[in-house]
Amino acid sequence: MDAGDNHEVADLSLADQGELNIRWAESHMGSLLKVRQRFAKEKPLKGRRIGMALHVTKETAVLVNTLVAGGAEVAITGCNPLSTQDDVAAALAKQGVKIWSYKGETTKDYYRYINNIIAFKPEITIDDGCDLVSEIHKNHKHLITYIIGGCEETTTGIIRLKAMEKDHALHYPVIAVNDNRTKHLFDNYYGTGQSTLDGIIRATNILFAGKTVVIAGYGDCGKGVANRSCGMGSNVIVTEVDPVRALRAKMDGYRVMPMSEAAAIGDIIITVTGDKHVLTKDHFRLMKDGAIMANSGHFDIEIDVVGLKKMSKKVTDVRTGLQEFDLGKKKLYLCGEGRLVNLACAEGHPSEVMSTSFCGQALACEYIVKNQDSLADAVHRLPKEIDDEIARLQLDSMGVEFDSLTKEQEKYLSDWKEGT
Ligand code: ADE
Repeated sequence: MDAGDNHEVADLSLADQGELNIRWAESHMGSLLKVRQRFAKEKPLKGRRIGMALHVTKETAVLVNTLVAGGAEVAITGCNPLSTQDDVAAALAKQGVKIWSYKGETTKDYYRYINNIIAFKPEITIDDGCDLVSEIHKNHKHLITYIIGGCEETTTGIIRLKAMEKDHALHYPVIAVNDNRTKHLFDNYYGTGQSTLDGIIRATNILFAGKTVVIAGYGDCGKGVANRSCGMGSNVIVTEVDPVRALRAKMDGYRVMPMSEAAAIGDIIITVTGDKHVLTKDHFRLMKDGAIMANSGHFDIEIDVVGLKKMSKKVTDVRTGLQEFDLGKKKLYLCGEGRLVNLACAEGHPSEVMSTSFCGQALACEYIVKNQDSLADAVHRLPKEIDDEIARLQLDSMGVEFDSLTKEQEKYLSDWKEGT
């Protein structure tokens, strides 16, 4: 471990590789770089302290550098014990960014680092999963006077924030960056779709063609995972609790059935629900010898790993990111310890999708600064104009032109009188 006053990372000697990876990501994050160019000129975040608990990846480093270009001082830690890219963490530390994070963090270090971010007295928080906001509200309420707002990256975090809001327990405004259309319709669908399979493949090198893949959850993430599995030749089964989503999965051409049936026939079973104990001891008992499990939801609670361990005679680390659970009569396999497989076993979403997601984060910070006097202590969405602007920046960076309405069309859309 390399530690100093302002950093704790695995190995500073990895910084050169981290720098190369950050540059590689940057070359695929055109929309975010455009935001950075403007920020560098206008300095909308001048002098602002931003505390972040986000996956420490090469894409996140591009966001950090964008916020710094906008004039912010940034402190960052991870938001999942297995997702930090140690070379990137080293590169950020070398740049002088305050950073505490390494891959494989203990729970104690995870919360110690979150507390380092809180001790930095952030004026804006950026969270992925709401652990930072939750820790501030639970144990450091007195610091809330400094905070002008927060941003939340993921569906799970928004669910927690809305629960806080309902309990009147949320004491500063938070922007639901996840709810930007340019976030959930792209990051959750294309990002999770591709990177979940990437994680499972890196952990197992298994062929998806011809396999029965069970996907628990048919939200934007589940839809993406189902589509990509299908595209690779798998027979896809979806399990759902929401009738509309279950119907959508059926209409999209997948088999839909309860997990109590699906568990017995899946070769690969992927949870992406955001809820707890989707796969339990009852399901492990039903599973086929050799079945592979992976979770792509934010927290490691979807698969009852503790229960699985208790049922097992022996647990073996077969290879990086893959554990074998010997249940006597059969063996079951688990990717990435049941943590977010795309980040635990691969590199997370590709840079292109993170570019639009992180434009949302950068512009949300700017929005908070501009509107700090009027935002209520609640969960807010960014205005549609900002969401549209992100899409425009991304299209522009991809060299895509598109149409706009004619005056006549605009008038037609606002006129209720014209009919048959
Ligand atoms: N969430 C999913 N993929 C990610 C990535 N590449 N960087 C940061 N957060 C992520």
